[in-house]
Formats: sequence, structure tokens, C-alpha cells
Amino acid sequence: MLVLREVTVRFGALAAVDRVSLSVEEGERRALIGPNGAGKSTVFAAVAGALRPVSGRIEFAGRDVTKLSEPRRARLGIGRTFQHSSLFTGLTCLENVALAVRARRGLGLRAWLPRGRRAEIEREAAGHLAATDVSPDGPAGALSHGQGRRLELAMALAARPRLLLLDEPAAGMSAAESAELASMLRALPPELTVMIVEHDLDLVFAVASRVTALAAGQVIADGTPAQVRASPEVQKAYLGT
Ligand SMILES: Nc1ncnc2c1ncn2[C@@H]1O[C@H](COP(=O)(O)OP(=O)(O)OP(=O)(O)O)[C@@H](O)[C@H]1O
Ligand SMILES: [Mg+2]
Repeated sequence: MLVLREVTVRFGALAAVDRVSLSVEEGERRALIGPNGAGKSTVFAAVAGALRPVSGRIEFAGRDVTKLSEPRRARLGIGRTFQHSSLFTGLTCLENVALAVRARRGLGLRAWLPRGRRAEIEREAAGHLAATDVSPDGPAGALSHGQGRRLELAMALAARPRLLLLDEPAAGMSAAESAELASMLRALPPELTVMIVEHDLDLVFAVASRVTALAAGQVIADGTPAQVRASPEVQKAYLGT
């Protein structure tokens, strides 16, 4: 589903992502872990098309997407949620998700639609909200932190991605909220490929079938959760010894 070949992304002199190669199978649940500044979010930005690598190649579903724009990649099926919240706080939860459904269908956010069409979009939006256990009514701005992150997940699902990139979906969640998120992620359709960046290693090990560890822009371990957990390089990167 996704192949990175020797991908390098630079910010000036800094190689934030340094010759990263990895390969993710369809339906896989892959975690990307590593200390702060390791380059995890930058990998996601490069895959989504928000940042252009200076060298290397990115293939999605068998196609070279390295030079495609972010909207083109979104239309091909690369979806994501962001490390920092990106909700329309003045709109209801249903309206937030309905906007995402409209965007996927190429409908202008304000375009007038007949009532039947609007109702159909709202039904689909309500389905995504049910999957993430968020109530449709009430402004998005009034949600608890954990509910807000789940609303963002519903919005990402509304794009009907084939590959979903989740950047720290459990950030700021309580242990109970994070456990609830883990079961929600496990319930996603099996054919959906999911990559998750997360510092909450309990969530990582509950969800991921395979883990890639980054440090200073480079892959330092790649394997099953148990293999990566046992890797001396990973322990060194986390403990800083
Ligand atoms: N827009 C930018 N301009 C300059 N440097 C950047 C930019 N974005 C990230 N960096 C730097 O690139 C490196 C990788 O950052 P990145 O955000 O990818 O790390 P991360 O692994 O996601 O970290 P965290 O766990 O803190 O989110 C860091 O040294 C960071 O300071
Ligand atoms: Mg990050």
C-alpha cells in the first residue's frame, strides 16, 4: 500500500527525515514511534504531500506519488489527522463531518444542495460519528478533549481513505479515553491501512501489528512490537543512554 525508498526531507541544513525506507502492507496497522523531533510528523507530511522530499521516492498503491500535490494524494486515498486540533469549533459535530463528506464528493462547502442530497450527506456523516462514538449535536468547540480527537477521526474517515495517517490521536487523553480509542481503532475496517504516530506505547502495542522506530530522522528498528520493544537501539533512543 505504501513504500518509502530512501526518503530525505530537509529543513535547511537539518535532515529531519534521513534516507527513510519502509513498506506497509494493505490492511496493516503500523506504528511510527520515536523521541520528540525524531521526524515522525515529517514522514507523515511527506506521505500526505504537504512536504516535498529532496530525494527518494514514495509509492502509494503501486503508483509513484512523490511529485503529486496534497489534494491529488487525498483523492487517491491518503487521509490524515493532525497532531494539533483542526476542528470548526463553531459548527456542530454533524456539520464538521458533513463538510468532510462534501469535500470528498468535490462539493463546495457552501454549495446549495437539494434537501434529499443534504439528508444523504448527513446520514453518512452520522454513520462516521456513530463509529467514533461522538454525539452529532452541539458545537464541536464544547467537546471534551478526547471527544474532539474522536471527531477528528470521524472527519478523516469521511474522506474514505485507503491509508489513514493518525498523528498522536491519543495526545492529552486520559488512560480511559486512550483505551477507548484503542478499541475504536481495532474496530476500523480490516482493509483500511492505518499508520499511527503515538507516544502512548500502551496504545501502540494494543493497536499496531508492526512498529517502525525513528531517531534523528533515521529508522533504527522495524519489526513486530516485541522485536522493536527489545531493540537496544530503541531502548537507547528512549532512555538517552
Ligand atoms: N517547519 C519546520 N521548520 C524547521 N524545522 C522543522 C519544521 N518542522 C519540523 N522541524 C524539525 O524537524 C525535526 C523533526 O520534527 P518532527 O515534527 O517531524 O518530529 P516528531 O518526531 O514528529 O516529534 P514530536 O514527537 O515532538 O511530534 C525536528 O528537529 C523539528 O524541530
Ligand atoms: Mg510530531
